[in-house]
Amino acid sequence: MVTAEQNIETADPTNIVIFGAAGDLTKRKLIPALVRMIDCGLVHPDSRIIGVVNNRTEEVWFKLIRDGLEQFSPELGMDGDRWAAFASRLIMVPGDLAQQDTYVRLRESLQTLGGRKNAMFYCAVPPEWYGKVANGLESTGLVSEEEGYRRLVIEKPFGMNLETARALNQELQSVFDEKQIYRIDHYLGKESVQNLLVYRFANSIMEPLWNRNYIDHIQISVSETLGIEYRAKYYEHSGALRDMIQSHLMQVMTLVAMEPPVEFTADAVRDEKMKVLRAVRRFDPDHVKNQTVAAQYASGAINEDQVPAYVAEEGVSPDSATETFAAVRFFIDNWRWQGVPFILWTGKRLPKKVSEVMIRFRKPPFNLFDSHASIPAPNALVFRLQPDGGVVLRLNAKKPGLTTDNEELVMRAPYADNASEVADAYEVLMHDVLTGDGTLFSRSDEVEESWDIVEPILGAWKDRVSIERYRAGTWDIPAMDELASDCACGWHKPS
Ligand code: BG6
Repeated sequence: MVTAEQNIETADPTNIVIFGAAGDLTKRKLIPALVRMIDCGLVHPDSRIIGVVNNRTEEVWFKLIRDGLEQFSPELGMDGDRWAAFASRLIMVPGDLAQQDTYVRLRESLQTLGGRKNAMFYCAVPPEWYGKVANGLESTGLVSEEEGYRRLVIEKPFGMNLETARALNQELQSVFDEKQIYRIDHYLGKESVQNLLVYRFANSIMEPLWNRNYIDHIQISVSETLGIEYRAKYYEHSGALRDMIQSHLMQVMTLVAMEPPVEFTADAVRDEKMKVLRAVRRFDPDHVKNQTVAAQYASGAINEDQVPAYVAEEGVSPDSATETFAAVRFFIDNWRWQGVPFILWTGKRLPKKVSEVMIRFRKPPFNLFDSHASIPAPNALVFRLQPDGGVVLRLNAKKPGLTTDNEELVMRAPYADNASEVADAYEVLMHDVLTGDGTLFSRSDEVEESWDIVEPILGAWKDRVSIERYRAGTWDIPAMDELASDCACGWHKPS
């Protein structure tokens, strides 16, 4: 959590409008983040939270928010006076997002709030509603910035391919200026992900090593133990490539690969990320197979609990060939990275929940200790993104005793001893929206470029009728060993 002593800017008074205010995202993430931000003084006392809610009375909605806090964030202790103080900031506007009179009611409600003219519109609704909400706001005059700022926040997926992403961008940009649109990629709000930039650009020892002369390859991974939970409808159309690689993992790749920006401002950083995407080598449809892996979990055990196969999950077609594991081997054709594979991979129902960036360095040029049994392993620098942030450096050292044999020495530098010091991604990102800092949000050109890159893979995978299976709770995906076979030490499974 952000603490008051951290001297962070308190946002101007703002009407925080949430569309989909009775939904899961609101209960699990947005409301708890707002409570913590209020606790730390990051939300102006005059700001109000306005929930647009359909088919519920005010009483039912308030109870739903309160129950959500108890269920998902009991550590916040939202009972008694604390709840009453928070509830006094909540306002409900009833209505269906498809109906014009909902936006009229919203405008009236905002007018009664007098001096608080700024507004953030958070779309916690499925993407097919984004355009309707934007148009509803425009037609009631709620987009004009004459009286204060107006910012629209949307969540991924930003389209399902290049064509739909472009259409969405055009629809939103016909109402809002690009600078008013905040596309949330919650990975960029994770402190450990932002920390990548600090590790890279606040430490002078990194830069000389950070290139093709010293780095053999890079693996960026998100391994999850969870299955698809209740999201079959979305996941069946999405799969791991769209769900994680095109979005979160490619965003992390741009942070790892980008050149130092000239300043730490939204456009300077995003310009550098965009240059990386433009340099990513395009896939020849005939060679997609050699550069990617797709697999799906079969039944198995996670932490000794039996779990069903993907095809047996509720809402999943029994002959589904949707990938729950995906890997892509990218190359970035520029001076810094020419020839260095970037392997991005992710999967559900794997043995561990870990997200990492692993930089594998080249082998020593000459093995001085060859006459002895152990050959020094190439060094690795691992940035742990979660569950615990930090850095691990793998070096070689001499084994103690009368020998020149070596063994691996693992140096660990945890980040933030106390997990409660770490701000939740939604706290960071909502605060950035309130203060108008777009650095950690995806710009429309980045979104379109990343779709353009994965488009040949989507095309090659489109008509797939069968898929490799891996047993849930195992790393049993032989195609991954093949994909990384020419990389020093091969596929890196997090430990
Ligand atoms: C979401 C994906 O964007 O990120 C989910 O839709 C995935 O499928 C989640 O589980 C992972 O996020 P985190 O923060 O738990 O690593």
